[in-house]
Amino acid sequence: MPKHTFILNGKSTTVDVDDDVRLLWVIRDIVGLTGPKYGCGINVCKACTSHLNGKAFNPCSVRVADISETDEVTTIEGLADTADGDLHPMQQAWLEYDVAQCGYCQPGQIMAAVATVRKARAEGHEVSDADLDEIRNVCRCGTYSRIREAIKAGAKDM
Ligand code: FES
Ligand code: FES
Repeated sequence: MPKHTFILNGKSTTVDVDDDVRLLWVIRDIVGLTGPKYGCGINVCKACTSHLNGKAFNPCSVRVADISETDEVTTIEGLADTADGDLHPMQQAWLEYDVAQCGYCQPGQIMAAVATVRKARAEGHEVSDADLDEIRNVCRCGTYSRIREAIKAGAKDM
């Protein structure tokens, strides 16, 4: 099988797998990081949201062959290492606002939150309600109002 190399949570990672295997299965089943969750597998639910070169992406919809050696993939497991402290400020805010219910969607929600704040700043403004409206991560437990409060609080410490 072909070998594919990319950077995963700061470490060069090589896997031996067919080109067409989607990155979510590589991360979960081959590497063994189960933070990015499987919900739909077709880029709809956003449960698998992670970062590709700092921006939100959904690894269930990306073939491993489409990722290059210099691409940096960050999952929830590696998020804290991108900031100072034991937890990323957004993870800390999640705890303070007691956001999670069943928890299934929450890694993806936090990764989407961080990417949304970064995107707003890259555009020259702080994260707004309009930015938050664009987050499409589904939460079957309906924790949306706590998610919004936590994102605003977490953004202040980012
Ligand atoms: S599992 Fe990736 S978007 Fe649903
Ligand atoms: S906390 Fe249960 S799906 Fe979001």
